[in-house]
Amino acid sequence: MKVYAINGSPRKNKNTATLLQKTLDGVKYSAKDKELETEIINLYDLNYTGCKSCFACKRLEGKSYGKCAVKDDIYEILEKLSQADGIIFGTPVYLGNITGQLQSFLERLIFPYLVYDKNYSTIAPKKMPTAFIYTMNVPEEIMEKMNYLSTFNGMESAIEHIFTKPQVMYSNDTYQFDDYSKYKADAFSEEKKAAHRKIQFPLDCEKAFEIGANLIK
Ligand SMILES: Cc1cc2nc3c(=O)[nH]c(=O)nc-3n(C[C@H](O)[C@H](O)[C@H](O)COP(=O)(O)O)c2cc1C
Repeated sequence: MKVYAINGSPRKNKNTATLLQKTLDGVKYSAKDKELETEIINLYDLNYTGCKSCFACKRLEGKSYGKCAVKDDIYEILEKLSQADGIIFGTPVYLGNITGQLQSFLERLIFPYLVYDKNYSTIAPKKMPTAFIYTMNVPEEIMEKMNYLSTFNGMESAIEHIFTKPQVMYSNDTYQFDDYSKYKADAFSEEKKAAHRKIQFPLDCEKAFEIGANLIK
């Protein structure tokens, strides 16, 4: 069995990556002695674009029907993910949305499996369990007030349609810099941020672990 975490942050050891690792730890814990491999895919290490609208994935009797035909750094990764036993997506929120890198990746992952028939049916070879982790600067109240959730829901619905309904978690009020005093950041109270980091972030890590532990039933 193989479970993948897709890191949509350019940073490999900050908020999003840490929570993704905790989720994979939860997956491994719940798998106990079952043979299970996990892998983090760091999208910002890879050279690729979003969908190029070539429609090879929809061409009748075409050799790429139902698959993305674009041969770049994620070609093989998309192939591997088609047989995954679980996928966890993680992203920082950039300008109220998932990162551009993750958006481009999801276009390539999802669109080939979406059939242009009357029901927009799906031909994904496997309906694996999924999860979606968001990390962001704003506190929970502002995330709700600014309608972030309806933006996130769009992509979650697409993932549900193609694979399965994702388990979702938000990590709010994240610590952005190692040393706030070195940056122009007087919009925030470093003291409050540090306290949140100390108290809430470990709880978020526990939640991420639980999501992983519940991923594969
Ligand atoms: C380009 C950019 C745009 C951002 N936009 C938002 C935003 O719209 N809302 C928000 O709450 N946080 C925003 N943030 C903050 C990040 O989402 C937050 O710090 C996140 O936890 C960083 O994740 P990482 O540590 O895994 O990189 C932004 C950060 C950057 C670099």
